[in-house]
Amino acid sequence: MHRQLREEKVFKDPVHNYIHVQDEIIWSLINTTEFQRLRRIRQLGTSYLTFHGAEHSRFSHSLGVYEITRRIISQFEQGKYPDWPRDERLVALCAALLHDLGHGPFSHSIEQAFQMDHEDWTCKILLGDSEVASVLRRLGDDFPAKVASVIRKDYDKPIVVNLVSSPLDADRMDYLLRDAYFTGVNYGTIDMDRILRMLRPFQGRVVVKESGMHAVEDYLMSRYQMYWQVYFHPVTRSSEIILRQILRRAKELYKSGHSFAFLPDPLPGLFKRELTVQEYLLLDEALIQTAFMQWRNEKDDLLSDLCSRFMDRKLYKYVETESLDKEMIEEIRHAFAKVGLNPDYDLEIDFPTDLPYDVFRPDGKFREKQILLLDRQDQLREISEVSDIVRSISGLHRGKFHLYFPDNKLTPVLDKLPQEIADLFQLQT
Ligand code: NI
Repeated sequence: MHRQLREEKVFKDPVHNYIHVQDEIIWSLINTTEFQRLRRIRQLGTSYLTFHGAEHSRFSHSLGVYEITRRIISQFEQGKYPDWPRDERLVALCAALLHDLGHGPFSHSIEQAFQMDHEDWTCKILLGDSEVASVLRRLGDDFPAKVASVIRKDYDKPIVVNLVSSPLDADRMDYLLRDAYFTGVNYGTIDMDRILRMLRPFQGRVVVKESGMHAVEDYLMSRYQMYWQVYFHPVTRSSEIILRQILRRAKELYKSGHSFAFLPDPLPGLFKRELTVQEYLLLDEALIQTAFMQWRNEKDDLLSDLCSRFMDRKLYKYVETESLDKEMIEEIRHAFAKVGLNPDYDLEIDFPTDLPYDVFRPDGKFREKQILLLDRQDQLREISEVSDIVRSISGLHRGKFHLYFPDNKLTPVLDKLPQEIADLFQLQT
């Protein structure tokens, strides 16, 4: 049964000013234990070690994505566009609100360390034994499966998927604005109101009126800047590397039968990769950081050193290089081992890449990855065909190799390394 709240509820939000909740179902979902857990997971993982303001949570981002989706839909409904399927409103709003429900603590690092996928977990929570699932079932037994299908991007109404996940979706717009606000950088400030006014439902998907092209160009440029200035910041990468090493080391120790002085549930299940939904939901950043604080005293020098580094922000230093091949990496590893360093932990190589905007031909099957402009004759064109700016940043593949290392361990043995390798690591330290 769908009901409106007797009185609208609002959340004060630094990015959108107010977030409006009119539907009882949305209010109930926000108040579930699984959604409240998102308050204990930071949106930007370890970025707070680079940008100290970046402490915002997935809770605030999820509310923001919901709010942007709500505004788009209400504009579609006010415009009385026949291409917007009106009975999809609640499915879209629930999917927007819940799209990040399955994120774990320090998501990207933990996903890499344990080969997990937050989207899988989101769906397991939506379809499993959870409070969220029982709230969703109030709208019908098949309603949780519909929301999960939007999140998996295989829902039979692509326009609903478009709203939550496409190159110009509510998710990306919220995180650009929110991450820019909380990091304090100036790159991500886009004219969202203008973009929203230019969106149209058209032939089963969301497109942009041609006159909105410059606002979209601005959005793609912001996205490009944010990737390089914030998301791929080398100091953030360094903290992610240490975090992954901690998890890797702890897992190795666990597998080798090490008896930990501190190992609360559900960490053993995490190491064995056997977590139930209920156990997974116990994972949050408070628990992970408590473990790290305790492991500073663990009887394994490597683990305790890594945990101290992470908690005290004694991160790895890095040097950059344009080119690096497999042989060179092997040589460095070999040289490191020879002087008593541990090449599995004292050296990490990183090559950050991301395409700001993937360009595909409009007739390809990747139409959902395109931004389509709608002209006055109701013709659609892929934006990079029209915009020089978009074309110039499309498919850009820029970046350098970064070599990360613990500077306090490397410096004392630097002069024992072969000259070529020593030069490489001496460059910028
Ligand atoms: Ni998101």
